[in-house]
Amino acid sequence: MSAEPLEIHLEEQDLGRGLREDVRAGLTAEPKWLPPKWFYDARGSELFEEITRLPEYYPTRAERAVLADRAGTIAELTGAKTLIELGSGSSEKTRLLLDAFTRRGGLGTFVPLDVSVSALRQSTARIAADYPGLRVRGIVGDFTRHLDRLPAGGRRLVLFLGGTIGNLLPAERARFLAAMRAALEAGDWLLIGTDLVKDPAVVVPAYDDAAGVTAEFNRNVLRVINRELGADFDPEGFAHVALWDARREWIEMRLRALRPMRVRVLDLEVSFAEGEELRTEVSAKFRPEGIAAELAAARFAAHEFWTDPDGLFGVTLARAE
Ligand code: SAH
Ligand code: AVI
Repeated sequence: MSAEPLEIHLEEQDLGRGLREDVRAGLTAEPKWLPPKWFYDARGSELFEEITRLPEYYPTRAERAVLADRAGTIAELTGAKTLIELGSGSSEKTRLLLDAFTRRGGLGTFVPLDVSVSALRQSTARIAADYPGLRVRGIVGDFTRHLDRLPAGGRRLVLFLGGTIGNLLPAERARFLAAMRAALEAGDWLLIGTDLVKDPAVVVPAYDDAAGVTAEFNRNVLRVINRELGADFDPEGFAHVALWDARREWIEMRLRALRPMRVRVLDLEVSFAEGEELRTEVSAKFRPEGIAAELAAARFAAHEFWTDPDGLFGVTLARAE
């Protein structure tokens, strides 16, 4: 079966409006910030894929190890008819689950949802070609806004992999999980990947690799704003910073101005002092008890919790109560 045309829940004009609102709010705030969803134009999505192959970036390999081990169990336990993937990107690791569900039989539809049209076009075409019996319905959407539009259709399993939930701030996370629960029926399943708290000597290099790919990914948000909003950021005028926040147990990516700069964007003139930092992403690291508590607060019961052999990354299978 070929992939169905993408369902667009986020039109170009919505994307543009969202970017304008976020840029105005974030660049007029003190300290300045931008939300991480704007990294992912075509180039940003490619850079993220490159990050997943870096020797320092352990989360993808560790999560893949868990899925390779547990995909059969997940297929058996959930017996899902519809697999929905939020922030699906390339859906590469998801193939381990698609393979297990194909072996078991009974999976009808795969619904990847992402803000990145380019990532979704590529992934839906490839998956439809490789899984001929599967209906593939890609949705261009924002998982912080469009969960009420998830398709019905038999027992559902929602995948939220990669540790992307850690890119939401704690209050956003609580809102996201509540909206997720509201979108599901009791008995539906959620499989959620979370990077775990560990020695910062392991975490920091994963976000500040020797080849400088993460630095390029970080600066890409400025390129997106230049292109989409006609701004005049000099991306090379900013240094990449990855900083471990021990109290909040998250890593922050920032862009540090290397010299004083004035940037024209929208109707604003935004000043950066030399050394001033703009926060572009947080990536929270979790403890098992914290994950179960956040899920319980949203009326999900943690059913299974698995880690890779090195205990780097956790995958929780939870059920909507
Ligand atoms: N799940 C994949 C990709 C993770 S990268 C993996 O585990 O490797 C994060 C993905 O989430 C990107 O593809 C990005 O485009 C998407 N994304 C980020 N914020 C989003 C949002 N608010 N709504 C939908 N997709 C989002
Ligand atoms: C998508 N997300 C889980 C990645 C992370 O690790 O927080 C994004 C990323 N940022 C820097 N490197 C990768």
